[in-house]
Amino acid sequence: MTRPLQQTTAIITGASSGIGAATAQTLADLGANVALLARRADRLTELADQINAGETGRARVWAVDVTDEGAVTAAMSEIAEAFGGIDLLVNGAGVGTWAPARESRLSDWRAMVEVNINGVLTCTHAALPYLVRAAEGGRKIADIVTVSSIAGRRVPGPNSNVYSATKHAVNAFSEALRRELAEQHVRVGVVEPGIVTTEMTTSGDKYAPDARNPSGLGFLQAGDIADAIGYMVTRPRHATINEILIRPTEQAA
Ligand SMILES: NC(=O)c1ccc[n+]([C@@H]2O[C@H](COP(=O)([O-])OP(=O)(O)OC[C@H]3O[C@@H](n4cnc5c(N)ncnc54)[C@H](OP(=O)(O)O)[C@@H]3O)[C@@H](O)[C@H]2O)c1
Repeated sequence: MTRPLQQTTAIITGASSGIGAATAQTLADLGANVALLARRADRLTELADQINAGETGRARVWAVDVTDEGAVTAAMSEIAEAFGGIDLLVNGAGVGTWAPARESRLSDWRAMVEVNINGVLTCTHAALPYLVRAAEGGRKIADIVTVSSIAGRRVPGPNSNVYSATKHAVNAFSEALRRELAEQHVRVGVVEPGIVTTEMTTSGDKYAPDARNPSGLGFLQAGDIADAIGYMVTRPRHATINEILIRPTEQAA
């Protein structure tokens, strides 16, 4: 059976849980070899074993912190060496702390800037030379997809202050990159989910969106976002999906 991403390599950051883990499985199902990046090695290994037990693309683990420039740069080089290049980068790693500004810790704000902005910049900067090379050779197209948020399109309400700011930042960065890289055939896009049931929304944080007790049609699942990313990166070469915003059907805000 031929799969659309056969003979490609995808890096997925934040692959140890939630949207990143689901995306890694989806891209492997589409035939990609997947490099799984996050800090929790045990979770990554469990997912890699699950993927490698199937008939899909192969999976390997790189336990790195996306904010660690040296570790990320070394990982990119090892991944390109192990799989023969890098065709796709999915920036999925992210953290979210929601609270009124007056109750927030500055360290939480800085952590969001560090992971959600600087982590995306670090991984994108390190992967870019390989992606440009991939677009020139083999598949003749490369992809960068960043998991932003509906909070990257508009401030969803109070308490989302710095989280929303970080997601606006990656949207702006992605749009600027898109303009720069269009003629080099590196497609750049963002996916902007509403509330998805993951560790981020089930931790019981006082002010965070709470997906613990869904009613009605329920919230989005990580697989819904993975499907969207799978769609983005399997378009024909002449078509780029730059932005997908997905809400749970019953999410009004
Ligand atoms: N859930 C939602 O409702 C929702 C809505 C819109 C957007 N998003 C975005 O979706 C993305 C994924 O979040 P999720 O909902 O799937 O939450 P999640 O299950 O908590 O996943 C977050 C992922 O980020 C990784 N991560 C965090 N800090 C990291 C670091 N310094 N280095 C490497 N990896 C790091 C975590 O892995 P380790 O802890 O193992 O490092 C984990 O794999 C985030 O960018 C989030 O902002 C989520």
